[in-house]
Amino acid sequence: MVRITGTGSYLPDKVISNKDLEQMVDTTNEWITQRTGIKERRVVAENQSTSDIATEAASLALKKAQITPQEVELIVLGTSTPDFPIPATAPIIQKKLGCSQIPAYDINSVCSSFMYALLNGYSSIKSGIYQNCLVIGADCYSRILNWQDRNTCVIFGDGAGAVVLQRDEHAKGVLSLNYGADGNGSHLITQQAGGSVNPVSKAIKNRENDLYFQMTGKKVYEFTISVIPKVAKKMIQDAGLNKEQIDWIILHQANKRIIESISKILAIDLNKFINNIEFLGNTSSASIPMALDSAVKQNKIKQGDKVMFLGFGGGLSWGGMIVEW
Ligand code: UT7
Repeated sequence: MVRITGTGSYLPDKVISNKDLEQMVDTTNEWITQRTGIKERRVVAENQSTSDIATEAASLALKKAQITPQEVELIVLGTSTPDFPIPATAPIIQKKLGCSQIPAYDINSVCSSFMYALLNGYSSIKSGIYQNCLVIGADCYSRILNWQDRNTCVIFGDGAGAVVLQRDEHAKGVLSLNYGADGNGSHLITQQAGGSVNPVSKAIKNRENDLYFQMTGKKVYEFTISVIPKVAKKMIQDAGLNKEQIDWIILHQANKRIIESISKILAIDLNKFINNIEFLGNTSSASIPMALDSAVKQNKIKQGDKVMFLGFGGGLSWGGMIVEW
């Protein structure tokens, strides 16, 4: 019913290596490599924003799907680092791409944002409202990180990925899905200032740290390891499959150790997991569509393959789908 017909991604040029970070905070290449699997990450140029990199990724996805910007009927952007708090960033992308006056809006579920945007695009087509949707995951965490906080600045990178979703009567599309959130952990990943509780004007004067992204990494790690494998198992069961029938798994790229642990818990070969964390870091909402695009470019995913997508992050939230390619 719904098929991904095009993928695209964009990576900023500027590289920050672990060695560069050693000059900035009290850290070492060994610590970062051993604890996260990350060697380098990209950051946007001074004059680039989330809408710029999202537009680049989206144009490539449209070319791959062989559709024009005028044929797009809906744009859903998953991001937690929009160009501005107001307006939403998707209308800015709509203008930059040269689309018609179609609906364009943002979804923020932190690192799960792309998966929630994908659910929205998928539902819009399945319900018969639209035929052609553009779903984007793009983030510029370099703009909200405290570059003096070693707990966070060594982990994240900037990037954008996009997919075109189209109605296709012959496609099986989504075989199962599982979305959820546990608000008990909402304090574990935050950017405290800029909302109705803590207006940015107040934070600038009294609590500068609230302006930055903050994460209680260990607790999030524990949540991920305890919840995400269960979600994966449930999706496999709901799809009427066994784990051997899953061809590829694309998890949110939060930490190489998390991916390795989930592979062990599920007893699914690590070679089935598509990874891009080593040279990109955690790109938040962009990590899944960028990993997908790299797998498609390498001709790894073949028609009929069963691909599991599973994102997780702030909220705490998760979202996953098994699709038949
Ligand atoms: O994308 C959204 C979802 N996010 C996640 O899923 C992230 C999940 N969490 C993680 O990936 C890991 O918890 C981190 C990579 C964030 C941290 O790894 P960890 O193994 O959990 O380290 P930790 O926070 O328990 O810290 C261990 C030690 C501490 O020192 P002490 O207290 O043992 O002396 C930290 O102060 O490592 C220290 N540390 C560092 N040392 C060198 C923390 N960051 C650094 C650093 N360089 N950059």
